[in-house]
Amino acid sequence: MEMDQLVALCRRRGFLFQSSEIYGGLQGFWDYGPMGVELKRNVREAWWRDMVTSQDNLDVSPGAPAAFEMTGLDCAIIMHPQVWKCSGHYDLFNDHLIDCRESKRRYRYDQVLGRWVEAKGKRIFVASDTSGEEALEQTQLKALKFFNLRAKKANELKWEGPLVPLTTVTDFDDVLGPDAKELGTLTEPREFNLMFETNTGAVRDENSRTFLRPETAQGIFVNFKNVLDSTRVKVPFGIAQIGKSFRNEITPRNFTFRSREFEQMEIEFFCRPDTSADWYEYWRDRRYRWYVELGLSSDRLRLREHDAEELSHYSCGTADIEYAFPFLSDGEFGELEGVAHRGDFDLRSHMEGKLIRQGDELVVEQDELGQPKYRGSGRDLTYFDDQTKERYTPHVIEPSAGADRATLAFLCEAYTEDEVPDEKGKPTKRVFLRLHPRLAPIKAAVFPLVKKDGMPEIAREIYKKLKPHFNVFYDEKGAVGRRYRRQDEVGTPLCITVDGQTLDDGTVTIRDRDTLKQWRVGKEDCTAEVQKWLSQ
Ligand code: GAP
Repeated sequence: MEMDQLVALCRRRGFLFQSSEIYGGLQGFWDYGPMGVELKRNVREAWWRDMVTSQDNLDVSPGAPAAFEMTGLDCAIIMHPQVWKCSGHYDLFNDHLIDCRESKRRYRYDQVLGRWVEAKGKRIFVASDTSGEEALEQTQLKALKFFNLRAKKANELKWEGPLVPLTTVTDFDDVLGPDAKELGTLTEPREFNLMFETNTGAVRDENSRTFLRPETAQGIFVNFKNVLDSTRVKVPFGIAQIGKSFRNEITPRNFTFRSREFEQMEIEFFCRPDTSADWYEYWRDRRYRWYVELGLSSDRLRLREHDAEELSHYSCGTADIEYAFPFLSDGEFGELEGVAHRGDFDLRSHMEGKLIRQGDELVVEQDELGQPKYRGSGRDLTYFDDQTKERYTPHVIEPSAGADRATLAFLCEAYTEDEVPDEKGKPTKRVFLRLHPRLAPIKAAVFPLVKKDGMPEIAREIYKKLKPHFNVFYDEKGAVGRRYRRQDEVGTPLCITVDGQTLDDGTVTIRDRDTLKQWRVGKEDCTAEVQKWLSQ
């Protein structure tokens, strides 16, 4: 599948629109349309149900080190600015960016690739902000243009080695920027904090400066004690949150994959320090399975453990769950979710002040006067185990997923083309979304075969019986074949058709979106049939 085909379908059938489209759009922001809102809601609801409300805390779940409880929160987007100072986001949540003086475009330093090439006695680095085959093509075309060579003279370009990151280049004077015609137009990299800033209250000054949260996680940490005190949860337990996060990404790209406003589904799981390695493995494997169970094929999905250099300064282990999105080059994967072992970094930072690693220790970072650089809340965020009479700061395992990335991956995986006979038996191309029934925006569509002989009345009656239970759709307009295709395109698993035989024996035809198999059930049994399908 080409990404363009999916993007076109998403627009045509109301899954996703560019934000503020009538004004030319705003880069990095997306609106979910009537079908998209249902799909994303189903993704969120599947996650909440599977991770939170269906968690049985009496018995040990398969693969879990012990029985545990899950609970939820819904925190404010704007939090006290000290939260971001202690979490590290204020100082460290930076990307390096470079500007192009000629094209006025801005790039993420770590995302620009390029190749060294020599021609006509000059050696230059040709940069590209794409990757893989696309970058190779782009650099070839740019080099031909720069050296004023026709395509048939391409052999005069002497390329040196493969694509390498711009970060390996020390002197930018010989760099031809991704959108530049002249050499040396890129600025030196500079740090750029990704948090969106705003002001709270009527006065706009340093004291009223606040931030839109760049992750939902911190709301959970700062409420850890509130949850302990207001419920009867005991370690081990998890707190989940779904909500919007904001990052002023330098290069939002690849449809919703990297947006500036997006939704996260995060769990902070609190456990005894000596059990945390086992809980890390449990969550890593459980989260991977969740995507497979909802339809992501395991050959496009992978679990990648970070190596030591990639680990955050506080983490003893992190794995990314990654998907081979179609906009990536062959062999490339994009992150869907990170599962991180965060130790006691967050709870301690919010108690004591921002921590940094010193050797094997986490210590409070100090300013020039030897005082804590950022003071913590001073609140006691430790846990007292009343059975063992121990007090400790729990360790945290954090499975952190993106609702928009998961939705995009489910859409990519679902996009399918096949050939089916049309009304006259001629094979025609069909596009359909093979979405898991739990995720499908519409669960069933109800059609009368024709708009006469009492069929619409029976179909409407079935629709009305289904509607209180499921999101169902009634359609009586146009040829039935066309109505089926419209439902296939938005991934409706079942179509229920009232036809001539319904008038004789009270049965209706049910058609399966994927196999096109048809069978009959009594018109009274439609609710049970749809329910059966959904609980597969
Ligand atoms: N609390 C940890 C945390 O926020 P992260 O890896 O920065 O970790 C977690 O983000 C998930 O949030 C990512 O795996 C991804 O699914 C989603 N995400 C992050 N940045 C995003 C963006 N700019 N656009 C869409 N989703 C994003």
